Amino acid sequence: MQLKDKTALVTGAGSGIGRAIALAFAREGANVVVADVNDEGGQGTVGLIASSGGKAIYQHIDVSRPEEQLAAVATATQVFGALHIACNNAGISIGPSGSYQSLADVSLEDWSRLIDVNLSGVFYGLRAQIPALLKAGGGAIVNVASVMAQAARPGIGPYVASKHGVLGLTRAAAVEYASQGVRVNAVGPGYIDTPILSRRTAAELNVIKGLSPIGRLGRPEEIAEAVLWLSSERASFVTGGYYPVDGGFLAQ
Ligand SMILES: NC(=O)c1ccc[n+]([C@@H]2O[C@H](COP(=O)([O-])OP(=O)(O)OC[C@H]3O[C@@H](n4cnc5c(N)ncnc54)[C@H](O)[C@@H]3O)[C@@H](O)[C@H]2O)c1
Repeated sequence: MQLKDKTALVTGAGSGIGRAIALAFAREGANVVVADVNDEGGQGTVGLIASSGGKAIYQHIDVSRPEEQLAAVATATQVFGALHIACNNAGISIGPSGSYQSLADVSLEDWSRLIDVNLSGVFYGLRAQIPALLKAGGGAIVNVASVMAQAARPGIGPYVASKHGVLGLTRAAAVEYASQGVRVNAVGPGYIDTPILSRRTAAELNVIKGLSPIGRLGRPEEIAEAVLWLSSERASFVTGGYYPVDGGFLAQ
């Protein structure tokens, strides 16, 4: 077991990639704090972990609220004694309008929500988690960025900007805390088969599948394996890195 006696916090763990990460952490022996704004999804993940013999608790969180990030870390340390691993995974692909638009047509409301959740949400997470990891004597943080941290596609400008920002935050945190035993890395999923793609039409999904040389959508578990490695001692010399898991999308 790679994470025995560790405690891990995963945001957005009620669905998709976050759920797969939470399950992988629990499988490897970690106590998991499943954090999400969607209570039903979060409790569903806790149920899946419990039924396979793992240990997890649910914590309601809106990652765009700094005080709720602090509360999630406090829960982890109160219930399990310390926090060693955090995965800032919660994210949205689209703003409240529910539509994809070119930059000049993006409403201020859509822009703000994307940045609040995807970028400020990671900053608020780091701000709450790093002191707890330092107190535990070190640890690892993995931010779930996207291939859109290194590339762009039309119609998703705020998302692209937010994910480029996540990569910047990852590198900034890595260089500041490396000497104190906290490693910070980012993964860059390509197109993965989760509910986040549910607004795409069947025709759009067909195009999306063809965007990666492997020619299919990725599975959430394929991202979880990379996050697990980065979170474990096996990646003890790895910090400030960006790891695409994208079926070759960025290689083109
Ligand atoms: N699926 C993909 O193709 C893909 C590609 C690249 C990156 N990503 C990134 O992976 C991460 C997970 O996405 P997913 O595909 O699993 O999507 P998903 O919609 O299945 O899961 C996202 C989870 O985050 C939660 N969430 C949303 N806003 C939140 C908030 N403000 N506070 C707390 N929780 C919140 C949702 O309730 C949900 O459980 C996101 O950061 C996304 O940008 C996904």
